[in-house]
Amino acid sequence: MSENESQNKNQIALKLNNISKVFVSKFEKLVALRHISFVVKKGEFVSIVGPSGSGKSTLLNIIGALDRPTNGTVSIGGVNISSLKDNEIAYMRNRLIGFIFQSYNLVHRMSVQKNVELPAMVSGINRSDRNRKSLALLQALGIKDKAKLKASNLSGGQQQRVAIARALMNNPTLILADEPTGNLDTKTGAEVFDLLKNLSRKYRRTIVMVTHNPELAGQTDRIIFIKDGTIEKEVVN
Ligand SMILES: Nc1ncnc2c1ncn2[C@@H]1O[C@H](COP(=O)(O)OP(=O)(O)OP(=O)(O)O)[C@@H](O)[C@H]1O
Ligand SMILES: [Mg+2]
Repeated sequence: MSENESQNKNQIALKLNNISKVFVSKFEKLVALRHISFVVKKGEFVSIVGPSGSGKSTLLNIIGALDRPTNGTVSIGGVNISSLKDNEIAYMRNRLIGFIFQSYNLVHRMSVQKNVELPAMVSGINRSDRNRKSLALLQALGIKDKAKLKASNLSGGQQQRVAIARALMNNPTLILADEPTGNLDTKTGAEVFDLLKNLSRKYRRTIVMVTHNPELAGQTDRIIFIKDGTIEKEVVN
């Protein structure tokens, strides 16, 4: 590999090569994604936009190794996750990916701080390092005073901040967010989005976000428009 090629490779956080996904049931075969290829550079903030049912969540779940493609490969930080076994995938997901969901997906009965620490518990980080890191993240996200509360006692916007802290806990190569502002009112949604934008601009985090909100998509580096499971167009902002 030439020096140039290896430098380019180092700048790539995510590479999708010819991804297809077919859902097969007793009654039908549904092609949810067809021939999706794109690259996301390190530090890039990309949004994915498209009509309901166009395949956005299916795509994000495949990128995040929550689901497998029918065809094609996904590489994150140079690791081809499509070729891994299930137990290896769980390991890589825990280290490479931070996932933020529309409905926060926190463990309600656990404290805020424990929720944030979950990925680090899975990867075996010791308690004092976990505590230090989780409190620092909660502080950065403006909810350190909520650390000991049960997650279910927080407002939606606060819960999403907890989910962002959790996504950052293991320093992932890639942050994935599926409609992270979808359950929030306009003002709270804008605040949560600004946190993601700040992660991108200030800390050079790589983020792929699905959104229905054209105003938010317009503030990311690039918009990938999905229609009927294919890339309709891309717009660089
Ligand atoms: N597990 C599954 N089994 C069968 N079909 C599925 C499954 N998951 C998704 N689909 C189908 O794949 C297509 C794409 O769904 P997907 O959830 O990716 O859409 P989306 O773009 O995220 O929509 P929305 O904006 O409403 O969230 C839909 O037709 C959906 O019904
Ligand atoms: Mg969806």
